Amino acid sequence: MNTYNENRYKTMRDEYSRMAVAVPPDSERITRESGALFTFAAWGDPQIFHGSSSRTQRFAFACADIAAMEGKLDAVAILGDIAEMGAECEYRMCADLLSGITDKFDDLLCVPGNHDIRIRDYKKQRDKFRDFVLSVKGGVFDNENGGYYFSRDYDCCKFIMMGSDMNSFEGTYISGKQQKWLDAEISRAEAEGKTAFVLNHQTLKHSNGLPVTWGGNGKWRGSIGFQSDRIQDIFEKHRNVVFITGHLHYGFSVYNYEDCGCYKLLSLPTVGVINHGPMCKDSQGYIVSVFPDKITIRARLHMEGRWLNPKAPGAYIEIKRNPAAGSVV
Ligand SMILES: [Fe+2]
Repeated sequence: MNTYNENRYKTMRDEYSRMAVAVPPDSERITRESGALFTFAAWGDPQIFHGSSSRTQRFAFACADIAAMEGKLDAVAILGDIAEMGAECEYRMCADLLSGITDKFDDLLCVPGNHDIRIRDYKKQRDKFRDFVLSVKGGVFDNENGGYYFSRDYDCCKFIMMGSDMNSFEGTYISGKQQKWLDAEISRAEAEGKTAFVLNHQTLKHSNGLPVTWGGNGKWRGSIGFQSDRIQDIFEKHRNVVFITGHLHYGFSVYNYEDCGCYKLLSLPTVGVINHGPMCKDSQGYIVSVFPDKITIRARLHMEGRWLNPKAPGAYIEIKRNPAAGSVV
């Protein structure tokens, strides 16, 4: 780490040491649901920033809530925009917080967001991202393709991590090679009777409340971008995809979940930045559990250490699952 980053990191640590981060003593603790085959936390956009200690604090609350849970998660999935400026000091701060709860999860699964990749040299930034993930115990980043994309198999499901194949300020560029790989990975999961959780920073065009959830701007903004239709075509060939994304910074609402028939879309609020929309509380995330016949998705207000009122929009989502095929119906 160079001197600039070292100094920034020290400042961030100093700020963190003065923060009050404690889950309320009367909180409803997170527990693994009985009968769940696989359980993971899904977080969007920590966006840790050396210029904003509140981002660190919001993310630290989410980690503290997981630290207080009963039992442990199979994985923590972070849907991109780990670091606001893609800076080493920001990744290190994020890694410190995650490293404090590694006894509470087995695997850390991350995809990059536009903030992680933009402006800087692609390869250097990719290596920085990889080093961040691997610096946390349980961090998974085992691709050999020079990009960000790879997959991870579990007994009942497969995680397919997507990532841009070149710098992009706001969208994601998915090369033809990665598109073919994506299709093949989903097919493989399907043949093995597994649900495919496909992780990417941005959702599809005209989905999850766009353009409302992106401030009402543009025909494609807030989404993957120009290649959205190609990714959608791939999903439509299969019956087992749950596509999980972040980027929108829009709190729990009617827009988080979209049932597209043979595939499903789940858009996450941000765990680190300010959430837009009517439910704008800090530190929002989902706890996802896979059962033989269903997938449950529960909205968590990490800072308050409680579940969102089950009657609120986006609070509880249930997807039916074919136990033999892993398909979502
Ligand atoms: Fe983003």
